[in-house]
Amino acid sequence: MKIIIGNQKAYLDAEGMNNFIKETKGDKNVIICPSFPYISTYVEKSNYTVGAQDVSTRDGGATTGEICAKQLASLGVKYCIVGHSERRAFFKESREELIEKITKLSEVGIIPIFCVGENREEKDEDITKDVVGREILQVYDYLEKETIEKIIIAYEPIWAISDGKNPARIPTNVEIADVTAYIKDLVSEKYNASVKVLYGGSVNKKNVDELNTISICDGYLIGGASVKAEEFNYIMERNV
Ligand code: PGA
Repeated sequence: MKIIIGNQKAYLDAEGMNNFIKETKGDKNVIICPSFPYISTYVEKSNYTVGAQDVSTRDGGATTGEICAKQLASLGVKYCIVGHSERRAFFKESREELIEKITKLSEVGIIPIFCVGENREEKDEDITKDVVGREILQVYDYLEKETIEKIIIAYEPIWAISDGKNPARIPTNVEIADVTAYIKDLVSEKYNASVKVLYGGSVNKKNVDELNTISICDGYLIGGASVKAEEFNYIMERNV
């Protein structure tokens, strides 16, 4: 069984969210990360385990507009995405912020889903492993071992993530397996921890059966296809 995590980004309005909940069966083994305002509805009305797409670096209190780890935990959130490439690009999230976010989540028992991945130029230069390795070490070197053991890593090549309009090309199974093995070995050698590694980037109903043959890959972080009921039902049926 693969770990299935839906990153619904900011795709759905309230009606779209309600339709998605009605049109998919849901499953406690599947994690949906909706937009913040929809978290309570998912917790109360769906069969999914609920995650968040981001968390504040701050503790709470007098911090207008932020959503803190303790608040997420109090709503029943079990997982949270950290360092998604869209947040790194649009909001210039720094290494220090990522460390802070992961630490805050760990303090309240929420499992971080830490995203890493190379961009198109880095792929062309053939430096994927250098990039991914650096993204991991520059954060993990500042975390407690207990925290490292809980994190799930999502390997998401930036060039394979869909823009919501055009389907993107995705890496071959061999490429995904190779980077996944590299990440697992790195975390095991440097931190003596075993880590679950997901693949993310344009996973959909057309490629999921082929991706399912990569045994070293523990599951998927799914964006666009996680808001399309029919497509997501298919992916769940194949994996849960
Ligand atoms: P995508 O997004 O499946 O729409 O490519 C994946 C992600 O960004 O997590």
